[in-house]
Amino acid sequence: MNKGEQLYEGKAKKVFKTDDPELLIVSYKDDATAFNGLKKGTIVGKGVINNQMSNLLMQRLEKAGVPTHFVEELSERDTLVRKVSIVPLEVIIRNISAGSFAKHYGVEEGIVFDAPTIEFSYKNDALGDPLLNDYHALALKLATAEEIETIKKYSFKVNDVLKAFWAGCGVTLVDFKLEFGRLSDGTIVLADEISPDTCRLWDSKTGEKLDKDRFRRDLGGVEDAYQEIMRRLREHV
Ligand code: TMP
Repeated sequence: MNKGEQLYEGKAKKVFKTDDPELLIVSYKDDATAFNGLKKGTIVGKGVINNQMSNLLMQRLEKAGVPTHFVEELSERDTLVRKVSIVPLEVIIRNISAGSFAKHYGVEEGIVFDAPTIEFSYKNDALGDPLLNDYHALALKLATAEEIETIKKYSFKVNDVLKAFWAGCGVTLVDFKLEFGRLSDGTIVLADEISPDTCRLWDSKTGEKLDKDRFRRDLGGVEDAYQEIMRRLREHV
């Protein structure tokens, strides 16, 4: 499958057409941004790691009954995916307090919740991805009630599968962000990526951060953290 015309360039990926109108190629870059693009940088080797990690995790999720956009890994940075129209909701699941949750509610990071939380933000960079609830999403016609139910069901399933998987790697899945899309027939599938850019992953023993927070917070050792988390994953697939 050859790369055709470039359709889109995002902050971390490019998307290309293919000969098949139902399939696209995503190409992962080393570019990193934070705080809605205000902070910019490069994480050497990130594109390769995010591509391979996302593909391995999506294949696991498919086996567990969550449909995804994944079709085939084409190269270190390129993957063939099903074409979707992205539902403009960022879905965030949290198992432990961190990041914006800790900030909004004035609590420390690291509080383990009895049950996971779910929240949505409106995927809209111009507005700074504002938080919204189901009713807001319906009012704005971002998704139907049925789609929102499906998205919630899949998101909690993703959490169950990934939490258990990462635990086996000695890693605690703190929180993560998902995006879903509609196939041409309207079927909802998991899209975008699942990577250290979109998850908080802490070493279960030491609490060391093995994710993009090292870049967001200038903690240093960014590339090493990406390599380490990928090494942990490879040992367990
Ligand atoms: P938050 O605590 O900043 O709201 O982030 C929650 C999770 O979502 C965290 O794992 C990082 C991920 N995330 C993204 O993937 N993209 C984003 O733009 C933001 C703000 C967070």
